[in-house]
Amino acid sequence: MEIKPALRRAIKSDVEAISRIALASMALDPQWPYRFPLASVYPEDHKKFTRIRYTEYLSNQDIGAFDIMLAELPSNEDPSTTIPIAFAIWQLPGSHIKRTGNKQKPSTKPPSDHLNRRDASPVRMQQFRKTISKAKEEWFDNRFGESQMCLTTLATHPEYMRRGAGSALCEWGIRKAVAENLKAVTLFSSPMGKRLYTKLGFRQVGLVHTQVEGEEEFLEFPGMILELK
Ligand SMILES: CC(C)(COP(=O)(O)OP(=O)(O)OC[C@H]1O[C@@H](n2cnc3c(N)ncnc32)[C@H](O)[C@@H]1OP(=O)(O)O)[C@@H](O)C(=O)NCCC(=O)NCCS
Repeated sequence: MEIKPALRRAIKSDVEAISRIALASMALDPQWPYRFPLASVYPEDHKKFTRIRYTEYLSNQDIGAFDIMLAELPSNEDPSTTIPIAFAIWQLPGSHIKRTGNKQKPSTKPPSDHLNRRDASPVRMQQFRKTISKAKEEWFDNRFGESQMCLTTLATHPEYMRRGAGSALCEWGIRKAVAENLKAVTLFSSPMGKRLYTKLGFRQVGLVHTQVEGEEEFLEFPGMILELK
């Protein structure tokens, strides 16, 4: 019988493992090469800024804005140790609505785009963030406000895909949202994720289209929700 991945909350020292999984798997999601078209030309920048972004997410977890969950399996070489194979980043209630004026509240804004990175297309990064923020506000935040958990990132290392880690990480978030009596779980799906989310009961509420003026390339991806009550 195949061993099920075990889940635990990530800690700061997991940043290497999280970055390694992200670098191996996220390139399979079309939004990644769209935003980072020069990743293979500037691999040092790609690695460095990926690590910086996940360090920022881990700091945001410390102030209660996100939950970052890891899935692990026993290592083949030494089954008494585990290796991280997948992770999920959940944006938590209390961090969805933009705060204005109240300096006392911790900053819960997402990690910055670091537009100076040479592997990225700054115009696409900005357009992507603008389009996704607008869709999030219209389809998720205006409707569910703080009564939602939003799946920001889900990634399984390609060597370990289709062993249930992605589903287990999603189900963890759904269980938490149910336990907290929230109205919905929300996300933007990649082509690879869509089957998984549909299987778990998510339905598509719209299609994001992002395109920089003057460019032919564009990205389209669905917004999906799972309503809980
Ligand atoms: C999407 C992703 C996280 C799924 O992770 P996973 O650990 O393989 O997920 P699971 O093993 O729980 O698979 C769940 C279901 O998704 C579907 N699925 C996953 N990978 C698939 C593939 N390569 N081809 C067809 N269906 C697939 C299947 O329906 C699968 O269930 P099944 O194996 O019982 O048929 C993973 O493919 C990934 O990291 N992709 C690249 C990054 C990405 O697109 N992330 C999602 C961002 S929204």
